[in-house]
Order: sequence, then C-alpha cells, then structure tokens
Amino acid sequence: MQQNKIPQHVAIIMDGNGRWAKQKHLPRLAGHNAGARAVERTLKAAQKAGVKFLTLYAFSTENWSRPKEEIDGLMKLLCQTLEKYTKDAVKNNIRLWISGEREPLSPAVLQQTDQAVKATSQNTGLTLNLALNYGAQQEIVHAVNALVATGKKSFSPQDIQAHLYHPDLPNPELIIRTSGEERLSNFLLWQAAYSEFYFTPVLWPDFDEAEFNKALQSYQNRKRRFGGI
Ligand code: IPE
Ligand code: IPE
Ligand code: MG
Repeated sequence: MQQNKIPQHVAIIMDGNGRWAKQKHLPRLAGHNAGARAVERTLKAAQKAGVKFLTLYAFSTENWSRPKEEIDGLMKLLCQTLEKYTKDAVKNNIRLWISGEREPLSPAVLQQTDQAVKATSQNTGLTLNLALNYGAQQEIVHAVNALVATGKKSFSPQDIQAHLYHPDLPNPELIIRTSGEERLSNFLLWQAAYSEFYFTPVLWPDFDEAEFNKALQSYQNRKRRFGGI
C-alpha cells in the first residue's frame, strides 16, 4: 500500500446482511448482528490505514419500509452497540458524527446518539460519520430549505455545500459497496460527484481488514482526472 495515497474519506454502503443470514438459514437480525462486528473490524482497519473520515450507511430513509420487527431490531442493535463502544471511542480518539434527519427516530435512539456524539466531540482522530435515517435527496433539500430561510434567492454549489449536514466533511475519495449491488441507493449524491467506486461481492458481515485494504489498493491504482486530461 502506498502510504502517501490513503484516501482522507472512505464511505461504505454496508449491504448484504440479510443474504448472509439467509445463506446460513438464520433470521435477518443475525445478519445485522454479524454486520455490527464487521463495523468494528472496518473501523480498526480504517484507523490503522490512516483514513480520517469513515462514513457508514447504517439506515436509509427508505429502510422504514421494512417490517417493523426488523426496524426495531436494527434500532436496538444500534443503541446497544453505541452503549458498548462509546467509552472505547473516547479512549481511541474517535469522533462520532451522525448524518440524517432526526424525525422519526425514537427518543431512545436520539438520546443514545446525542450522548455518543457529545462524549466524543473533542476527539481529534478518525471521524466516524454514521448515516442514520439518511437520504441524499433529503440532505440536499435540507440544504436548500436552510438557504431559502436566509432570504437568499439563488445559490451556488458552495452555498449548498455549506448547508449540508456536515459542511466540513470532505468529499469521499472512495465509496465501497458490498454484496454485489452496484447502485447508490440515495447515498451521498452531492458528495459523490468525483468519488471512485469499489464494488465487491463480499457480503457485509464477511467484510474485514483484508477486504478494506483491497479496496484501498484498487483506489490507489485509479487515475483521477476531475475533467482534465
Ligand atoms: C444492509 O443489509 C443493512 C441495512 C440496509 C440496514 P441488508 O439488510 O440490506 O441485506 P440484504 O440486502 O437484504 O442482503
Ligand atoms: C442501502 O442498502 C442502505 C444501507 C446500506 C443502510 P439497501 O439494501 O437498503 O438498498 P437497496 O434497497 O438494495 O437499494
Ligand atoms: Mg440490502
């Protein structure tokens, strides 16, 4: 790996938990539980590689269309994981950010996420940006509405950028999607304008440091042109 070509921001669409569980004749929630362990491994791998921002797509605005039992299980898993790891995050200098709309997340989830964000806000190491109840179209609309509220009548790309959920989040150089699907599913539409994409058939619960490093290596072999020659 070339140490001078590590992306600053890697974003991941963690997909395939359900199929992983199905292959093993397990309930879908067992796949999500295994997915949480893959998050832990990936976070460590990203830190080790020197990545500064890691965005993980945890729950989309469209995921509310899943059965209530699965949604409740996912939210419970999120709360348990945050409760378990906030202390570690503080110790490991990880800062937690959340990207997404608060409505209609439950008070329990909001309390847990607010607490973890607050506890880690002074950390200066890797920023873990959790895309939770996130939709990229909603994020752009959020920015436009905030701009309209200022009374301004026409906007530049810089104006939109300044009103995204986290204006200081650099654009991801690399976006990874697991499970063989090759689409964005309403993820980071604005920020992905010049991102490199890496698709792997590996299901998210099987993702690990080796897979993460493979994606980084692939990224390092790309020639980014940004419209130039
Ligand atoms: C990703 O795995 C996790 C979430 C979307 C919350 P899926 O649950 O989408 O797994 P598949 O796509 O059904 O295999
Ligand atoms: C995208 O995965 C959302 C997350 C990973 C949280 P989905 O499984 O919801 O996406 P689609 O429905 O296959 O496009
Ligand atoms: Mg899926």
